[in-house]
Amino acid sequence: MSVKVIFHGQSNVEIHSGSHGIQIDPFYSGNPVCDTRADKVNPQYILLTHAHSDHVADAESIARRTGAEIVSNYEITLHYGARKLKTQPMNHGGAVELPFGRVYMTIAFHTSAFDDGSYGGQPAGFIIQTGGKTIYHAGDTALFGDMELLGKLFPIDLACLPIGDRFTMGPRDALLAAQMLKAKHVLPMHYNTFPMIAQDGDAFARQLTEHNIAGHALKPGQSLEL
Ligand code: NI
Ligand code: MN
Repeated sequence: MSVKVIFHGQSNVEIHSGSHGIQIDPFYSGNPVCDTRADKVNPQYILLTHAHSDHVADAESIARRTGAEIVSNYEITLHYGARKLKTQPMNHGGAVELPFGRVYMTIAFHTSAFDDGSYGGQPAGFIIQTGGKTIYHAGDTALFGDMELLGKLFPIDLACLPIGDRFTMGPRDALLAAQMLKAKHVLPMHYNTFPMIAQDGDAFARQLTEHNIAGHALKPGQSLEL
């Protein structure tokens, strides 16, 4: 079964696996490079890596309209649960079985607060196993040595890695991350959305190719099939 991954700019990624729709970090409203709108997507699950607004922007409106369940750390699910939305709380190192497959929550080195300053728990990444494929969405993070462990624990088909620098890994660190993860394919994200995170995605993809990793510098709206 093929698994389709659609990139919408920043860290906004949709996964379509059979009849299942999984939305990660829905940043449509206020995303200057986004190709579509929040009212056009119909996921059953919304995975949130951390509470920053460039990741959770449209989570509430999509969840309210579609009935999608929000999968995130305990504190973020408390926030949405208080708004009467359905949630699946979890935390680092834990996994949850859902109708589309399995979600494991990884660590991430970053921060996590809502725009009003309320606590958003610790930031995370996700390893999603669905349709026979394994996808790592790193969220916002610095490079960390335990990526090597993730590469041992999981056969990673696709790694979605931030390359924007300043707030996350830059291209040099993301290249090392891809190698440590033993990722077969890499989708760079969290760059060129704003001037402060301008990067050359095509140059990064070429560097990956030199290391025998398939790099896919997708433009917002483009997709790849695994
Ligand atoms: Ni962030
Ligand atoms: Mn971010």
